[in-house]
Amino acid sequence: MATKGVLVLCAIVLGCYLCEVQECQEYIKTIASLNPVPVDRTNEFVTQANGVPAKEAEFPHQVRLGQWLHEDYDDYDDPSFFIRCSGALISENYLLVSGHCFWAVGNEYVSLGRHDYTKNSSLPEIQIKHGTSDSFIEHPNLELKSAHDDIALYRLTEPVNFTSNIYPACLWTDESPLQLDKFTATAFTMGTSVNDTDDTHVAKLLVNVVPNAECNAEYANSTFYKKGLTDNQICVESPVEWKSTCRADIGGLLQTLEKGSKTVYRLYGVESIGHECEENHMKYAYTKVQKYLDWIEEVVWGA
Ligand SMILES: *[C@@H]1O[C@H](CO)[C@@H](O)[C@H](O)[C@H]1NC(C)=O
Ligand SMILES: *[C@@H]1O[C@H](CO)[C@@H](O)[C@H](O)[C@H]1NC(C)=O
Ligand SMILES: *[C@@H]1O[C@H](CO)[C@@H](O)[C@H](O)[C@H]1NC(C)=O
Ligand SMILES: *[C@@H]1O[C@H](CO)[C@@H](O)[C@H](O)[C@H]1NC(C)=O
Repeated sequence: MATKGVLVLCAIVLGCYLCEVQECQEYIKTIASLNPVPVDRTNEFVTQANGVPAKEAEFPHQVRLGQWLHEDYDDYDDPSFFIRCSGALISENYLLVSGHCFWAVGNEYVSLGRHDYTKNSSLPEIQIKHGTSDSFIEHPNLELKSAHDDIALYRLTEPVNFTSNIYPACLWTDESPLQLDKFTATAFTMGTSVNDTDDTHVAKLLVNVVPNAECNAEYANSTFYKKGLTDNQICVESPVEWKSTCRADIGGLLQTLEKGSKTVYRLYGVESIGHECEENHMKYAYTKVQKYLDWIEEVVWGA
């Protein structure tokens, strides 16, 4: 009750940004009280080509929103060409995702708490049935041709109960110039083919922040980013080959551990459309969530 009062007050008096700040503090407290206590995560690791397989529950906010077999693909029977979409759990009821994820919302369910679809998890998975098409809330300015405002929210059909392996990420709220030079990028990636099409797991890469001009140069001949990246996007460079973002996943996440926390991530970006399969890129654009806080808070918290 006290929390609600503070939330309403901050919405009225101080504007929206503080609401996410407040929610994040509540999540951190809730997560610290979970049983068993969530294991420690780290921002330090050695990146390997196509990513380091994530450990079970390492990214407790990363969920699979859906998957979809690429219809334009020549070899329709090739089961490897599934596109999957990652989402980030940001509250009991909402996922934050890339706008172009609407392609991958299949006629199934959202899967939370799983990092590897080739084997059963030892931790419980939560499956929530997809809702109607209005569960997917695109940003009103979403424009896929320009790859601008490529961000959306997804309203779950029932609230998630947080557990030690399924809990939300906080959103980046800091407006000051970025001090970090590295982020952890995560995405569903393709491993070797194992019997069926479900051969995918979450992989992580430590990527370097580079000036947007570097993405503009690398995507100069691309059908996307014709006018270049905007200030609402960030360009990062992978130190290693990273082949699978097109084939396996859209909507990867860019995050780092919350300052002083070993369990809670802060989400900086969601993958921006543009990584064509036939092109080999080292640089990737992400949409900055901080630039969309007003819209996110209005939808998620009604602020
Ligand atoms: C996962 O568990 C289910 C149900 O217990 C079982 O039918 C299935 O074979 C298991 N799959 C793998 C890959 O172990
Ligand atoms: C959350 O917990 C409640 C009460 O135990 C249960 O009824 C509900 O199904 C749970 N929600 C999910 C998504 O598992
Ligand atoms: C793949 O199929 C083979 C043959 O049916 C089976 O022995 C093996 O356990 C399967 N592997 C997985 C990961 O399901
Ligand atoms: C773009 O196309 C031009 C002309 O074909 C070529 O010279 C240039 O290297 C290409 N740039 C990139 C980044 O691929």
